Amino acid sequence: MEAAGPIEQSEKKITCSLLAAVSVAAIGSLQFGYNTGVINAPEVIIKGFFNDTSLERTGDYISKSLLTALWSLSVAIFSVGGMIGSFSVGFLVNRFGRRNSMLLVNVLPMVAGLLMGFSKMARAVEMLIIGRFIIGVFCGLCTGLVPVYISEVSPTALRGAFGTLNQLGIVVGILVAQIFGLDVILGTEELWPVLLGFTIIPAVLQLVTLPFCPESPRFLLINKMEEEKAIKVLQSLRGIQDVSSDIQEMKEESAKMSQEKKVTIPELFLSPSYRQAILIAIALQLSQQLSGINAVFYYSTGIFEDAGVKQPVYATIGAGVVNTVFTVVSLFLVERAGRRTLHLVGLMGMAVCAAVMTVSLALKKIVTWMSYVSIFGTFAFVAFFEIGPGPIPWFIVSELFSQGPRPAAVAVAGFCNWASNFLVGMLFPYAVKLCGPYVFLIFVGFLIFFFIFTIFKVPETKGRTFEEISSGFERPAVNGLAPATGNKSSMVELTSIQSKEDA
Ligand SMILES: *[C@@H]1O[C@H](CO)[C@@H](O)[C@H](O)[C@H]1NC(C)=O
Repeated sequence: MEAAGPIEQSEKKITCSLLAAVSVAAIGSLQFGYNTGVINAPEVIIKGFFNDTSLERTGDYISKSLLTALWSLSVAIFSVGGMIGSFSVGFLVNRFGRRNSMLLVNVLPMVAGLLMGFSKMARAVEMLIIGRFIIGVFCGLCTGLVPVYISEVSPTALRGAFGTLNQLGIVVGILVAQIFGLDVILGTEELWPVLLGFTIIPAVLQLVTLPFCPESPRFLLINKMEEEKAIKVLQSLRGIQDVSSDIQEMKEESAKMSQEKKVTIPELFLSPSYRQAILIAIALQLSQQLSGINAVFYYSTGIFEDAGVKQPVYATIGAGVVNTVFTVVSLFLVERAGRRTLHLVGLMGMAVCAAVMTVSLALKKIVTWMSYVSIFGTFAFVAFFEIGPGPIPWFIVSELFSQGPRPAAVAVAGFCNWASNFLVGMLFPYAVKLCGPYVFLIFVGFLIFFFIFTIFKVPETKGRTFEEISSGFERPAVNGLAPATGNKSSMVELTSIQSKEDA
């Protein structure tokens, strides 16, 4: 399918235009990371604010149960907003386009930032909670908009590496939030509103720079039928004049789309040609959240405290640094090893680390140095997360579906990610009460289950066009014509999926 020579080279060429478009889009990922991490550090201080507000309003201190409820609400309502946001992505990207949707939704962090930033001055807990909800909606939108835009402006050969940039933006955002949240920076009684309101700054930055970024060429060509504009955009993105192969690939997809009827979310599940792919997409999202990564981040400070670290908050920042470093490692690995392999390595590594953490937690009272083993286990757990289950699910969804069903698929996957995120956050404290130090065995179970699932069900998507991947699910006859770039084992996977489909 691919022509040799100059086109082959252009596939790997990184132009300024491409780099700018991808970087500006990644500000959305930064926002998601920042607002995920920002609420943990100032917990005690903000609880104090709730208490003070209650005293002013009712003349009485807040009750313990109301404080817990209000705090949980402030944290969890972010996930509820995220679910709603991720579900609206499909509607927005088709109506307004990919770039303009990103532009438009920046209204949300501005409103949310103002609400949260002035909640202390206004003595209004409600403003903080509504702000958290709105910023959650925005972050839910980002988790869909950013990967779709990045994958549609990137050439096939670089899709994986740039897709990982989304995850890099998220972890850098978390790290920045952890550092800003230190009590020597913004994590103080006076400055916490600035910490929460800071989200306005990247929003303004993205609002100013996005108009200079191109609309997705796929959207221009396929949704808007504006071939001239699509060619211009592709020429500047690819840095070459002859973009006929890209146009050709998109047109083939478009021609096929016009044969398909419009795909709705229920159809994704009912139609045999999409069911397999959507179940894989959902399972990958679940594997990310049920791996226990958020539970580990939640409890890392406690674990480090037990280990006798004087300032556990700096060890938590250490975990944030490991998180970032291994996202970069993954950036280089993803084009070499393929998504399926990395996901498998990540899942197995996390399972082993979770087992090590269980042993060290159970034995820490008896063997003193076990607490250091648990620090090592936690760092390695985070590292393996970033090799596979962290980055892979975010862009593999875009790779499993062609233009027609993709927006619906992205919405469903995003919704599942947020819903499982919410459930883990809600249920983990109860699981700890029930299982004590053995709580991580639950995640070992999930990780092994998803490892086996990936072996048997998930195809390799590396270096293959959307068409080639999606055709693997639909038309067995085309399978033999798939290019040699896909590795052998993934062919076996695709074949096994088809034989199930045929049965
Ligand atoms: C509220 O603040 C008062 C005074 O600082 C304190 O005694 C009380 O324990 C606080 N209430 C809660 C639930 O933390």
